[in-house]
Amino acid sequence: MSDFVSSFWGYFIGVIALGGIGFCVWLLFTQRAWLKHDVKVVSDTGHVWDGDLTEYNNPLPRWWTVMYLGLCGIALAVLFLYPGVGSYKGSLGYTSANEVKAEQMALNERVKPIFERYSQMPIQEVAHDADAREIGQRLFLNNCAQCHGSDARGSGAFPNLADGDWLYGGDPEQILQTITKGRHGMMPPWGSQIKPAEAADIAQYVRSLSGLASDPLRVVPGKRGFDTFCVACHGAEGKGNTALGAPNLTDNIWLHGSSEASIVQTILNGRQNIMPAQEGILTEDQIRMLTAWVWGLSN
Ligand code: HEC
Ligand code: HEC
Repeated sequence: MSDFVSSFWGYFIGVIALGGIGFCVWLLFTQRAWLKHDVKVVSDTGHVWDGDLTEYNNPLPRWWTVMYLGLCGIALAVLFLYPGVGSYKGSLGYTSANEVKAEQMALNERVKPIFERYSQMPIQEVAHDADAREIGQRLFLNNCAQCHGSDARGSGAFPNLADGDWLYGGDPEQILQTITKGRHGMMPPWGSQIKPAEAADIAQYVRSLSGLASDPLRVVPGKRGFDTFCVACHGAEGKGNTALGAPNLTDNIWLHGSSEASIVQTILNGRQNIMPAQEGILTEDQIRMLTAWVWGLSN
């Protein structure tokens, strides 16, 4: 299958490839003097340099022409065997994605015995096995570090996985679930129900929950707004709810920033945050290994 969104580019490249080969063959055909067995008299082009350097009009050498035709043949064979022209898949059915998949499957077979040792072990025990931690860390660096950082301490909206603070809970089963199925953190937008000034007061109250500087006069109406709109998910004390992925707002750990402006933004426009599911990307064994490694970071 062509990786391009529009089929146009497949044909564009196909026409250039086939046209190029056709052009080469045509060019050789126009220079076919070498077919005549013995060219005795070689004409010259009439160009003379420095008085005695004459340019001959020799035919192309036979070996060279044959080699060139052979290359055109190879090019056609490659285009016949492999995808290269339009949506034609090639007679071998080759795709680089299949090649990678086959390699991955072979690798998974090869490492199976290593994982087998751990598959019966409880995750808490795997987490403290030195070899397993090494495997877990390598898996993490390859699959997770681009978002959570190579030390798993996250940054910005990518949560720190080493601080013992959990959006979705830190039990091995919960971490396993997070990694396998992914998570979609959704803070709904309140712009249609809460005015910006009211949101700013609520933001002052939210800041006061983590002991950040706040205006005591605005915290009072802010708390009223919070109690009306926010407790359903973040709880009466703002301590969050791991079943909903609603963060604890009292611990001064922030995904989306703690300034009044960014909290107002969070309230009015909402926030979406996606942890991609690893099911189908990683094997069950690998996910279990990662779960143990992540759990071990804070236990
Ligand atoms: C594309 C970026 C991305 C990648 C890759 C990624 N994550 Fe995440 N992860 C996130 C985001 C964003 C969240 C927060 C989701 C939310 O706020 O609801 C998250 C949340 C989590 C959580 C839940 C943390 C908590 O506090 O409950 C765990 C555990 C986790 N990721 C582990 C992993 C592991 C292990 C990998 C590698 C297999 C991984 N992540 C790969 C973006 C990513
Ligand atoms: C339907 C449940 C729900 C309600 C109601 C709700 N939130 Fe949230 N809130 C969430 C979720 C889920 C997140 C996490 C988004 C993410 O994963 O990035 C969140 C994130 C936040 C954040 C960002 C925290 C951080 O670490 O940066 C703030 C601040 C916040 N909410 C404040 C409020 C306020 C104030 C209200 C009331 C106006 C409110 N929330 C109402 C579910 C809710």
